[in-house]
Amino acid sequence: MKRIPERIVQDIVSRTDIVRIVGEYVRLEKRGSRWTGLCPFHNEKTPSFGVNEERGFFYCFGCKKGGDAITFVKEIERCGYVEALEHLAEKAGVLVTYEGDEDPAEAKAAKERQSLYELYERLAGTFHHLLLSDPRGAEALEYARRRKLSDDILKSFRIGYAPKDRSWLYRFLRGKSYSADFLETTGLFSRKYAGSVIFSDRLMFPIDDARGRVVAFGGRILSGDGPKYINSPETDIFKKHDTLFGLSKSAQAMRTTGESILCEGYMDAIAFHAAGVSNAVAPLGTAFTDSQAALIKRYAGTVVIGFDSDEAGTRATERAIAIAEGTGLAVRVLRIENAKDPAEILEKNGPERLKKNAASTITSDEFILGNASSMLRKGDSESQSIAFQYIFPYIAGISSDIKRDSFINAAATRLGADPASVRSDYNRFLNKEAPRRVVAGAEQASAFVPSSDAEFIAAIVANSELFESARSEIGPVDFDDDALKDAFITMEECYRGGDQSVSAVTDRLTCGGLKEFILQKISDGAYSINPERFVVDGVRRIKERALERQKQRIVARIREYDPERDGDELSLNDLLYEKMFLDGELTRIKEERHGRP
Ligand code: UTP
Ligand code: MN
Repeated sequence: MKRIPERIVQDIVSRTDIVRIVGEYVRLEKRGSRWTGLCPFHNEKTPSFGVNEERGFFYCFGCKKGGDAITFVKEIERCGYVEALEHLAEKAGVLVTYEGDEDPAEAKAAKERQSLYELYERLAGTFHHLLLSDPRGAEALEYARRRKLSDDILKSFRIGYAPKDRSWLYRFLRGKSYSADFLETTGLFSRKYAGSVIFSDRLMFPIDDARGRVVAFGGRILSGDGPKYINSPETDIFKKHDTLFGLSKSAQAMRTTGESILCEGYMDAIAFHAAGVSNAVAPLGTAFTDSQAALIKRYAGTVVIGFDSDEAGTRATERAIAIAEGTGLAVRVLRIENAKDPAEILEKNGPERLKKNAASTITSDEFILGNASSMLRKGDSESQSIAFQYIFPYIAGISSDIKRDSFINAAATRLGADPASVRSDYNRFLNKEAPRRVVAGAEQASAFVPSSDAEFIAAIVANSELFESARSEIGPVDFDDDALKDAFITMEECYRGGDQSVSAVTDRLTCGGLKEFILQKISDGAYSINPERFVVDGVRRIKERALERQKQRIVARIREYDPERDGDELSLNDLLYEKMFLDGELTRIKEERHGRP
């Protein structure tokens, strides 16, 4: 356990101005010697919350919560004692040391973390300045405006711009007397090409932690090649699986509404904030994790999942529901109609419409049942059994017997089956699936199933020179398996960072099972003969699968096309044209894969 020595605690307390601390969360007004405002811990319309500046105390006559500044931070940030003290120390400008810091290694690490915080903070300012006030950022600024980001939003998220010239930043920072050794630890520069920054001509999104400290950046491509988004790598202050984009800006609204909207992308979360819906957050490009769910739960009891409306978004929603419910969050799902994601609604229909859309939600039960019933084909009992196979894993995740029972009944009614038969099929499913579920439930990280996609990833890790061509053809979204999607992103980061060695990649993998699989394959000498073939085949297979999915989606939309409802907004011709295009691409890929007939 970290401990802060008593004299430092005293120093923090004596330098803390409780009115300033509370004032960051509550609008306080001075009444005589007291400050009053609306209580942030319960819902009220007339103020019963007060702060006594002299005694350093707060108290609410409504909900009876009260205490000193440390208690206030603990309560409002739902954090522990030490974390609360660190928060106060930062505000008061006190340097925290810990008992046990006499250990020089720990003290050095703490100092290094501090330097990283300072650098990332400074860079956020630099990039932001480049976007708003430097000619180099002019086009990026135009782009941001096209996407309907107002100056207020650009400022509050401190959105920025990384210039095209890859060597500029390094020179700039060296000029500010940062040492070359230190800059190497930041993860921002290539290992292969000294002084070359990983972000070039990108719109920059500072990623901050729960306390609002910048710990990383996401960069969206504006021109050139490469993936649409890249993130700065994990460092001592940044673990992407434990971070949610937009959390610090959403915490207050999450507390007051009891809800959080979980989006798929940065732009989606920002779009909601731009529309006045200030409780929207997003994971960092990888699958939603248990610890991200736990972060939400600190502030809100309900998560509203607002992922993209496409096939991949639907599947990711299913997984996120399981994670969120496993953490004890209530789950609702946002309905996004006639748009691919919230950012598009902001862009095309404006903030009012997006704000209205935020209220259009269904329960997770309804979401799953809706998906299942869309699988039904009239008079086809096979489709009925497919639909039930789809909902059984979801049923298995329901922890309350009463809820499970009533869901089974609802499902039977909705899908036109006899509840008793559904129960017996479900029990059969459980008997068959039990061993696998135990693995999956035990530890996400170890639930790894070898597959040809996993072989593909391993082959590239073993032969890193093949990644370059793979990344130009496929992206992380083309993998179904979260561990593989994650691995692809990691490989991209390593590629960008210029260190694609086997250990650089595998050290950063979070799925233990996949890591073991890759290392074992490589140590067995797999993929050493003609690996190109292997990778080329894999790329084609994965592309073909992605195109097939896209096509199925289009075909379904064509089938459900209703001129009354869809009218001009979604012209049938466009859909038919898109299908024709996909057919052409598929034929081409199939010929490449299987040879001409
Ligand atoms: P999307 O491809 O849906 O991006 O990826 P988006 O938010 O709609 O992007 P815009 O609106 O075109 O700008 C969703 C999220 O997945 C991660 C990013 O975090 C992104 O916000 N991602 C996506 C990556 O990390 N890398 C990629 O190449 C693509
Ligand atoms: Mn999107």
